[in-house]
Amino acid sequence: MAEELTILKNVGRKEQYESVMPQIEALISYESDLIANLANISAALRQGLGFFWVGFYLNSGKDLVLGPFQGDIACTRIAYDRGVCGASYSQEKTLIVADVDAFPGHIACSSASKSEIVVPIIKDGKVQLILDVDSDQLDDFSELDKEYLEKLAKLIAGKL
Ligand code: SME
Repeated sequence: MAEELTILKNVGRKEQYESVMPQIEALISYESDLIANLANISAALRQGLGFFWVGFYLNSGKDLVLGPFQGDIACTRIAYDRGVCGASYSQEKTLIVADVDAFPGHIACSSASKSEIVVPIIKDGKVQLILDVDSDQLDDFSELDKEYLEKLAKLIAGKL
């Protein structure tokens, strides 16, 4: 498969997910290396959906460590009880934050980030990594994003 993403412009986010998700599935189907796949998934989500920041934090066994991402540089280590990522890790569930400034303990890697969705990737009953997607718009994430990104989380968990 050619390493080129087909990007739909002037369509809604659902159509963008519908276009990008099968492309991601195809991209990662022939590669077993986790870091390579996470790198391409970050790029595909950012290019295909136009998000401000997309990346992964990997569970090191003692904290969450920055993995492959697309966007501005970000904090490298997040304690399990810190920020939105830490809350998602501890609660083992997806968190949608409409206004990051209103979230107690939010870690502001970039002042341009206004809202975010964080999805835990769980295998063998343990959060193995975290998908973090940030927007420069307030209240930019909904159940639609949760639905598609949780599908993606399951896909990634199946490759671990
Ligand atoms: N927003 C995260 C920190 C990571 S950056 O957004 C890339 C948090 O509060 O957990």
